[in-house]
Amino acid sequence: MDIRSLAYVVVETTDLERWHRFAADVLGMVVFERPEYPDHKFIRMDDFACRFIISKSSENRFKLAGWQLRDEQEYRQALLELTHQGVEFAPGCAREANLRQVDDFVTVQAPGGIELELCHTPMLDYQPLQSPAGVKEFITGQFGDMGLGHIAVATPDLPASYDFFVSVLGFELTDYMHFYFNQEDPEHPGQGLRFLHCNNPRHHSIALFESDQPADGNLVHLMVEVADMDELGLMMDRVRQHEINVVTPLGRHTNDQMVSTYVESPSGFAIEIGFGGLQCDWTRFTPTRSAKPSVWGHFWDT
Ligand SMILES: [Fe+2]
Repeated sequence: MDIRSLAYVVVETTDLERWHRFAADVLGMVVFERPEYPDHKFIRMDDFACRFIISKSSENRFKLAGWQLRDEQEYRQALLELTHQGVEFAPGCAREANLRQVDDFVTVQAPGGIELELCHTPMLDYQPLQSPAGVKEFITGQFGDMGLGHIAVATPDLPASYDFFVSVLGFELTDYMHFYFNQEDPEHPGQGLRFLHCNNPRHHSIALFESDQPADGNLVHLMVEVADMDELGLMMDRVRQHEINVVTPLGRHTNDQMVSTYVESPSGFAIEIGFGGLQCDWTRFTPTRSAKPSVWGHFWDT
């Protein structure tokens, strides 16, 4: 299955206006409304017509991520593969596809309670980013072909979730990590992560995170990437100015080399804002094994 990138995310919120302010004033993305879809906000960050679909709800939660197949032919092939492997999927209707600005999509339940969608042919509008906060660009590749960023998703059954993403969805392992929050407790089993890439140079488009009690919607964090240190620094200034909660202070990750900080989104999950993420040539890459998430910083216990 040839999944190219993370095309969009669907997020639920009790407070659409709070999301509007956060996305525009802090992240510097373009927020817009569509009269045919009341109770929604839509967010642009690059050539794609829509990257975030924010939906009014009684809950604050990350709902799901949408993954883009290469084209319609590959999408049809992917559905045949799902059927062949006995994986159930639910077709999306035309109105829902239009809401996502894609030609077609299906919803799939992955092991571990992870909900996702597969789609093809998202709409691009090629509008230059007119960031309300002056962000020059978000790093998403040529015409957005590296996807909007990456997500880290918690699962109570890491082996089953990992097997599904690799054997069924065709993701490949980038880094096999197991690390220990508490170095002083030798009995503590630690935590396993699997960093997976799909068919674009981004070091990982999804990380699977072992957890007994995943948050509602399973999301640990969502990463968006800016161009350089100053863009990240300016973003951190806006985080401070708008009194946004910093979940994890600045640090540099080991495996993808991302310099980043994590802040709390209006729906509760963390957003990693970073720059300098590694891009890989998969024809030459050998999967790595690691035990340490950060070279420096990222002190989440402070
Ligand atoms: Fe991340």
